[in-house]
Amino acid sequence: MLITFEGVDGSGKTTQLDLLYGYLINKGYDVVKTREPGGTRFGEALREIFLEPGINISSLSELLVFMAIRAQHIEEVINPSLKEGKIVLCDRFTDASYAYQGGGRGVDFGIIETLNRLVTKGVRPNLTILLDCKAEIAFKRKRSGECSLDRFEQERIDFYKQVRTVYLKLSKEDPKRFFVVNGSGTVEDIHKKIRVRVDRLLNDYGL
Ligand code: TYD
Repeated sequence: MLITFEGVDGSGKTTQLDLLYGYLINKGYDVVKTREPGGTRFGEALREIFLEPGINISSLSELLVFMAIRAQHIEEVINPSLKEGKIVLCDRFTDASYAYQGGGRGVDFGIIETLNRLVTKGVRPNLTILLDCKAEIAFKRKRSGECSLDRFEQERIDFYKQVRTVYLKLSKEDPKRFFVVNGSGTVEDIHKKIRVRVDRLLNDYGL
């Protein structure tokens, strides 16, 4: 069972993934928490350089590195965990490439689709939780914290808007897979909604 979390930077998806992880572990499930970019030693090492502000990376290089990270992640972590019957919670996955490299950077969607197909070897999320919130809110949240901003978080508000637009478009094209949650509610309210949806999914699969 693969459940992915998506949303613009500042939408709160990582907080929600952590809460769901705790909930499922408490219920006794075998759960793996992972992320992209990252998830493997190779991916985590690249992530560090990759998110560094000010580093010059072309759109095509960016896309190809994300895909290399994903290929390794699928082979080393996601596929073996799924084969062992574990629940995999992944912070960002294939949809992020359409939203960020497609929407944000203007890379052709057909190329992204071909590469995603190549690297995932047919693995598709059973459920994708999209934390949706207005680009302005996410943008402000990122700038009000103490943490320094990474290369993507430093982008203009228009970039955030394009990313959000693509995520919403993807969710409309595949409503069965996507669960869209309004990310401007309270952390606990959002968590409750996600819990209900995931309980239903597990029930549907007899888990
Ligand atoms: P993110 O999950 O936002 O990390 P954190 O919450 O710790 O800041 O991921 C880092 C960035 O990587 C994010 O801004 C989006 C970007 N990204 C892409 O542009 N394309 C992709 O395919 C993936 C997986 C991530």
